[in-house]
Amino acid sequence: MNVLFVNIKELLQVRENTVDFLSGKEMGQLPTLKNAFLLVKDGLIADYGIMNECPKLDVQTVDATGKMLLPSWCDSHTHLVYAGNRENEFVDRINGLSYAEIADNGGGILNSAKRLQEITESELYNQSKKRLEEIIHLGTGAVEIKSGYGLTKDAELKMLRVIKKLKENYPIEIKATFLGAHAVPAEYNSNKEGYLQMLITDILPMIEKENLADFIDIFCETGYFSVDDTQLILEAGKKHGLQGKIHVNQFNAIGGIQVGVANGVLSVDHLEVMRNEDIEVLRNTSTMPVALPSCSYFLSIPYTPARKMIDAGLPLALATDYNPGSTPSGNMNFVIATACIKMKMTSEEAINAATINGAYAMDVLDKVGSITKGKLANLILTKEINSYNFIPYSFGNHCIEKVYLKGQEVKK
Ligand code: NIG
Ligand code: FE
Repeated sequence: MNVLFVNIKELLQVRENTVDFLSGKEMGQLPTLKNAFLLVKDGLIADYGIMNECPKLDVQTVDATGKMLLPSWCDSHTHLVYAGNRENEFVDRINGLSYAEIADNGGGILNSAKRLQEITESELYNQSKKRLEEIIHLGTGAVEIKSGYGLTKDAELKMLRVIKKLKENYPIEIKATFLGAHAVPAEYNSNKEGYLQMLITDILPMIEKENLADFIDIFCETGYFSVDDTQLILEAGKKHGLQGKIHVNQFNAIGGIQVGVANGVLSVDHLEVMRNEDIEVLRNTSTMPVALPSCSYFLSIPYTPARKMIDAGLPLALATDYNPGSTPSGNMNFVIATACIKMKMTSEEAINAATINGAYAMDVLDKVGSITKGKLANLILTKEINSYNFIPYSFGNHCIEKVYLKGQEVKK
């Protein structure tokens, strides 16, 4: 399928090649082409340039007069495979309970795990695919999805098999992460070590055998898993070919970033609480810091100090954290707006964080994240807008007219 976009008001994120993420110093620049064309061949970006040089071709043509074209969002952190919702906990929080108090009363992750253990794989697939379709329409063209609401061998594998099936059935890029160490289930209440051993000896070999995951994750946090547990899980993952991506510094800074960096993790995610030493240890590493501003918004907790981190030269990616407890939203447009409004990121920084740096944080930078020849034609066509600043400015809404995956328009 060949498609030619013509009269594009501005083509965003145009890069001849992308070999690495953008550092804090580079994130302020968003390269664009005004009055441009873009040619898609066989699902890939084949050519682009200014309209004066547009080839005359007998192919399907999309007139983008007044509109912008940009690469799809890359959402490197979600938990969108889950069973049911937790709006009752939302009400509890309005009435004064904290996220921690709700978890201590049997809510939280363990509540989602109970529901997930009870439903069938096909019901879980049906619930999850609706969320995947929803985020595709919101402009996401690559997504990472975690397990971690199973917490038993069967239920964790059920989640990972659902992710695999989504991968097979949808044209969006999907990466899978094993997050067995998300919370200690009640039956292991006084035996966390036993639970970790079960993950390592019973589940990890199955994951490798069935090729069910790309990454391994752990919730490194007071009351969940320690720095030593994180070291153990990251080492075990490596033995099965899984690189780390960790939940860390959400509520407390306990040294998790240090252990992550020492193990060469691909990303450290959340980072609402950052000490100077946590920023320092991330300098000149290959680890991507990932901020999840919708989680901060929904839980009313601090935002990742993005300005301080970017000004220190660190790269930053933005993701949704789509999950039933802390962020029941997979809307990257809202993430970008919130990053600008609450974290004082510029439009250029936020768009870079949600495309190139997001792609790096899920190891798909060779395929998506920029307008580069040879990359997948996963694209967002905007409505008529005056400048790309309108993208974060239109918070609570979005300026997307159409989305394309591998050059095909995704119809509603
Ligand atoms: O990334 N922080 C840990 N895990 C999820 C939320 C889990 C839940 O509340 O269900 C997160 O925010
Ligand atoms: Fe998360």
